[in-house]
Amino acid sequence: MKRVITLLAVAITLPLAAQQKPVYLDESRPIEERVEDALSRMTLEEKIGVIHAQSKFSSAGVPRLGIPELWTDDGPHGVRPEVYWDQWRQAGWTNDSCVAFPALTCLAATWNPDIALLYGQCLGEEARFRGKDVILGPGVNICRTPLCGRNFEYLGEDPYLASRMVVPYIQGVQQNGVAACVKHFALNNTEINRHTGNAVVDDRTLYEIYLPAFKAAVTEAHVWSLMGSYNLYKGQHCSHNARLLNDILKGEWGFDGVVVSDWGATHNTDEAITNGLDIEFDSWVGKPKGAPGKTYDYYYMAAPYLQRIKSGKVGTKELDDKVRRVLRLMFRTCMNTKAGFGSMCSEAHYAASRRIGEEGIVLLKNDDGLLPIDPAKTKRVLVVGENAIKMMTVGGGSSSLKVQREVLPLDGIRNRLAGLAEVTFVRGYVGDPSGEADGVTTGQNLKDDRSAAELRAEAVEAARQADCVIFVGGLNKSRGQDCEDADRIRLGLSYGQDSLIVALAEANPKLVVVNVSGSPVAMPWVDRVPAIVQTWYNGSEAGNSLAAVLMGDVNPSGKLPFTFPARIEDVGAHALGDYHAKGSRDTIDIRYNEGIFVGYRWADRQKKTKPLFPFGYGLSYTTFEYGRPTIDRKTLTADGQVTVSVSVKNTGEREGQEIVQLYVSDKKASVERPVKELKGFKKVALAPGEEKTITFTIGRDALCFFDATKHEWVAEPGRFEALIAASAADIKGKVAFDLE
Ligand code: GLC
Repeated sequence: MKRVITLLAVAITLPLAAQQKPVYLDESRPIEERVEDALSRMTLEEKIGVIHAQSKFSSAGVPRLGIPELWTDDGPHGVRPEVYWDQWRQAGWTNDSCVAFPALTCLAATWNPDIALLYGQCLGEEARFRGKDVILGPGVNICRTPLCGRNFEYLGEDPYLASRMVVPYIQGVQQNGVAACVKHFALNNTEINRHTGNAVVDDRTLYEIYLPAFKAAVTEAHVWSLMGSYNLYKGQHCSHNARLLNDILKGEWGFDGVVVSDWGATHNTDEAITNGLDIEFDSWVGKPKGAPGKTYDYYYMAAPYLQRIKSGKVGTKELDDKVRRVLRLMFRTCMNTKAGFGSMCSEAHYAASRRIGEEGIVLLKNDDGLLPIDPAKTKRVLVVGENAIKMMTVGGGSSSLKVQREVLPLDGIRNRLAGLAEVTFVRGYVGDPSGEADGVTTGQNLKDDRSAAELRAEAVEAARQADCVIFVGGLNKSRGQDCEDADRIRLGLSYGQDSLIVALAEANPKLVVVNVSGSPVAMPWVDRVPAIVQTWYNGSEAGNSLAAVLMGDVNPSGKLPFTFPARIEDVGAHALGDYHAKGSRDTIDIRYNEGIFVGYRWADRQKKTKPLFPFGYGLSYTTFEYGRPTIDRKTLTADGQVTVSVSVKNTGEREGQEIVQLYVSDKKASVERPVKELKGFKKVALAPGEEKTITFTIGRDALCFFDATKHEWVAEPGRFEALIAASAADIKGKVAFDLE
């Protein structure tokens, strides 16, 4: 009888067992249950296996349990081509050419969170389609110095703008079951000495300027991963930094995702174990000669960690926390069957890339309405400059891409004026004719052995014959320009561009200068040139975005995400702070003596100097008129809100978008505060003659400063002003109110 019952029991449970998935594979179960179930099934070696790289961009799964590998890839504005298992070099696949979206300074310059959402959605689709679980972006490091080689990858100088733009970007990416990886946490504000710089910064500056965008990514966008930076803070490398990762990120902000190191940013097993690092990538550890196993076994969090556990030197508490986070990330991404399959190189992605570029281009000057160019009146257009023909999607460091196509400025202008005007091109100058990064070549031959004098003579002569001249220059993605792992050595342009621009202006007054850059540059010729357009590294549709603005199909609506200083001495980091122009192999302190006075916060305090172009500045082909701002109450209670309203009217002949900015000024504070700080912005579209009322509702949060002694945000009672502005230097009106 007993046997019968046993047989019966087996007969029943077998199919059940076959039907019933283990909890960790059952997507109907709460994620935390799945995490615990998977963790309980993993061996010690399997746990160690998932917390360090197994190849350049991947970490191991648990084959025995059917838990897949985790695949990451660069970067913030497009999905990098496949590389060899252990190398940076592209592997030469033929199905991994992507759409390049504009680099993030362009996104910031749109001041449009809806565009940031679109951007993230499209990038997430490309990453999902390519089988990437983590896209290594966005970068949100604050532009502390215009010379930083990676400003082009970030969202500008203001923590509020960067915060508002990074949240929807991350949400868009993660809708696709792809983790964004906000980087580089934290204080990675120069590229020179990025491995040895020890940021010395007071808490108030840290919390008010350098953390907010990361905090918004974590607490508002719920970013699933974050990358520790190369540099040091308080003498500890940021990829295993107790203060940043344990106290602030996981403690104060409750981050439940995965901290990955930057590639090669791990230096110490004990710190990696205890200071919050969850997955170690690309450590520069060699394998002892003749030793068994692969290099990856010798990573700081591989054999050395296993050894410490087996010898009883450390427990498994930290290990289990790391593994829980990795499993959680996997259930959100590679083991998430609900997030679709993405898409790649679709017309929708090209359209999005173009739209982001069109909305981010900034019109800086337009005397005598030289722009937009009217093909009916302008029959002979001359385009001058290497940046009109040089691909910018290749180079710049880890964000370099292999694109399916890149429409260059000259192509875009030619496409747009086909059949309407004659477009000729002369080089004007030779900058960097090279075009290769990690095995990706542009295929361009930009070699030109003519002398600078010959090139200039040709350009000046051609300018004399043209109805209008478009100079396309600026920076590029070469080392020492807008490029990772190095900074620029000057604020000004290279390759003799400044004097060439002056020569062109003398040859033909109808000159438009298009500056292609991801950082502020000096413009000594600013008074000699009637029209200036700031365009960015706008990716696959760069030329079409630019042409649409130059010819007026699109009314430019971008505004600067960072100040263009007139001189490098006008920048806090250079006037007061430490900025080391020389590389150092040893740890070197970088003292942020300028404190919170970064960008316009610094410029507003200067009596004798003013920026070349201020933060938040940008013109339009139409004009806008602001009414007088009003406020709904004169007193703000501690938990109350005030609403500031202002009417904005399009007083020109064509539709346009205006970015209305709200700054707050604390008129009586016990501490030194900036003259004003950005606490709101809205981009409003207006038809000719149309008027709209914009409202901003702010509360106590907008009035606070960070009190480092109390370690909390403090709003002191007293008088405040809300300023309505078209830029940091163009205040349209203000209203006062008192905080109770
Ligand atoms: C680079 C960069 C980082 C990038 C990573 C992988 O050194 O600092 O932004 O995502 O390594 O390429």
